[in-house]
Amino acid sequence: MAGEQKVEVLFVCLGNICRSPTAHGVFQKLCEDAGLGQWIGVDSAGTAAYHIGKQPDLRSVKAAASRGYMLNHLRARQVSDVDFQRFDYVLAMDKENLSDLQQRCPVEHSHKVKLFLNYGSLGEEHVPDPYYGGQDGFGHVLDLVEDAAQGLLQYVVKAHRLGGVESML
Ligand code: 4NP
Repeated sequence: MAGEQKVEVLFVCLGNICRSPTAHGVFQKLCEDAGLGQWIGVDSAGTAAYHIGKQPDLRSVKAAASRGYMLNHLRARQVSDVDFQRFDYVLAMDKENLSDLQQRCPVEHSHKVKLFLNYGSLGEEHVPDPYYGGQDGFGHVLDLVEDAAQGLLQYVVKAHRLGGVESML
């Protein structure tokens, strides 16, 4: 390994009960499966305070479990100012989340705030909010998240020279 400090990734949506906990669970498992769990820190948060302290939405938990990801240990929290210092990547699920984060983020950290699907390959820009829809929407979230998580991991491995594992990705 490069001997550098841990790379810290924060996923952000509105409520931190559907999309960002899904990204959190999927990306964490991907990192662990690649043997990179100790080199990449993962967390998630919401721009809104509505659901602080709650478990992920049961529909997200079920959809994720059906693909082998456990989310039920996660608890919602709101983005805080220190997140912009602490994390290397602050990744928004949609353009509203992006805009909220950009408004809050100190200028010296603004390069960290991006759309998560910038790392995806499916031609979508945003992870749509599934909260008011049916179970299908949660499967679609997982499709987008699994794809972008792969791209993100490949990017992070290269950018931070977490060497020796590229062949496994
Ligand atoms: P999330 O989904 O941002 O993916 O966690 C939502 C969760 C809750 C609400 C909206 C979106 N809500 O309005 O309570």
